Amino acid sequence: MKRVLSGIQPSGSLHVGNYFGMMNRMIKYQDENELFSCIVNYHALTTSNDPEVLRENTINATLDFFALGLDPEKSTFWIQGDVPHVTEFTWIISNVTNVGLIERSTSYKDKISKGVIPNMGLFSYPLLMASDILCFGSEIVPVGKDQKQHLEIARDIAVRFNNIYGDILVIPEEDIDKDTQLVPGTDGQKMSKSYNNIIPIFGDESFIKKQIMSIVTDSTPVDQPKDLNSPLYRLFTLFLSDKDKKILENKFLSPGLQYGKVKADLCDTAIEYFRPFRDKRDYLSKNLDYVFNQLAIGSEKATLVADQIIDKVRTVTGLNYSTK
Ligand code: ADP
Ligand code: TRP
Repeated sequence: MKRVLSGIQPSGSLHVGNYFGMMNRMIKYQDENELFSCIVNYHALTTSNDPEVLRENTINATLDFFALGLDPEKSTFWIQGDVPHVTEFTWIISNVTNVGLIERSTSYKDKISKGVIPNMGLFSYPLLMASDILCFGSEIVPVGKDQKQHLEIARDIAVRFNNIYGDILVIPEEDIDKDTQLVPGTDGQKMSKSYNNIIPIFGDESFIKKQIMSIVTDSTPVDQPKDLNSPLYRLFTLFLSDKDKKILENKFLSPGLQYGKVKADLCDTAIEYFRPFRDKRDYLSKNLDYVFNQLAIGSEKATLVADQIIDKVRTVTGLNYSTK
C-alpha cells in the first residue's frame, strides 16, 4: 500500500483533460492505496484576488471531486488552506532550494508570457507544490505531463534536504500515464482552461455540445482513411472500451466516415458518460452540510500526518530548540 497525493487548483471548470489526465486515475487509487488529495486554494491565490470567485471555485471543485467518485471516507481529502502547515514547510524547504532551480520553471515563464502578474507567490509556486507533496510523505503523485517539471523540482528539494539533514523526507515518484498525459483540446493544442479549448465535465450541456462540434478536423476526402492522430479520434477513444476503440478505428480507416456524424456521436457518448456524475453533483450541491463536514474531517486527518512530519523537520533543522 503506497501513499498517493495529488492536488488541483480551484480555478475554473474542470474539463475532460483534467479528468482523463489526472482525476480518474487519482481517484482509483483510493481503493487499494492511501490516497491524499486536496484543493489547492493557496496556489489559486497566485493568479486570483477576487474572494468571492475563490470561495465559489473552491466549493465547486470539491463538489466536482466528490461527484466524480472521490470518497472522503476511503481517503483523506481537504482544502489546502485548512492545513497551513504547508506554508511553514514551504519556508523551511526554501532555504535548501537554489534560486536557479525555481528560475528554470517553465510554467512560471509560460504564465508571465500570457500576462499573469509575476508576483512572488507565482514564482514560489513550485516550492508550495513541493511542500504539499513532501509534507505528507507522498510516494506517488498522479498528474498530467505539464506537471512533470514541478515533480522533478520536488524530488530535487527532497534529495537536497536529506543530504543536509539526514533521511527524513520521502522522495516522491511521478505517475504520468503515457496514453492520457496530454489530452488535446478542441483546437488540437493541449486542453487547458487558459486556451478556451475545453470540453467541460459539468455545466451547460449545450456548451459541451458546441465545444465538441467545434473540434478541428482536416480536409481528407470522405472516401479516404482518416487520421488516427486527430484530436477527434484521440478525444473519442478516451470514453471507449478496447472493443469500441477497435470499432472506431475501423470506421476511421474505412471510406465514408463523416466528421459531423462522429462529432454528434461523441456528444452523446460524453454526455452519457458523465451523466451519473452530474446527477450525484446535483444531489451534493443540495447537501452542503455533508460536504463541509467531510472537509472538516479531512483536514483533521491531514493535520495529524503533517504534524508528525513537520515535527521531525523542526527537530533536524534545530527549530525545535528545547533540550528537555
Ligand atoms: P489547466 O491546464 O486547465 O489549467 P490544471 O493546470 O489545473 O489545468 O491541471 C490540473 C491537473 O490536470 C494537472 O495534474 C494537469 O497535469 C492535468 N491536466 C490538465 N490539462 C490536461 C490535459 N490537457 N491533458 C492531460 N492532463 C491534463
Ligand atoms: N500544480 C498543480 C496543477 O496546477 C496542482 C498541485 C498543487 C499539485 N499541489 C500539488 C499536484 C501537489 C500534485 C501534487 O495542476
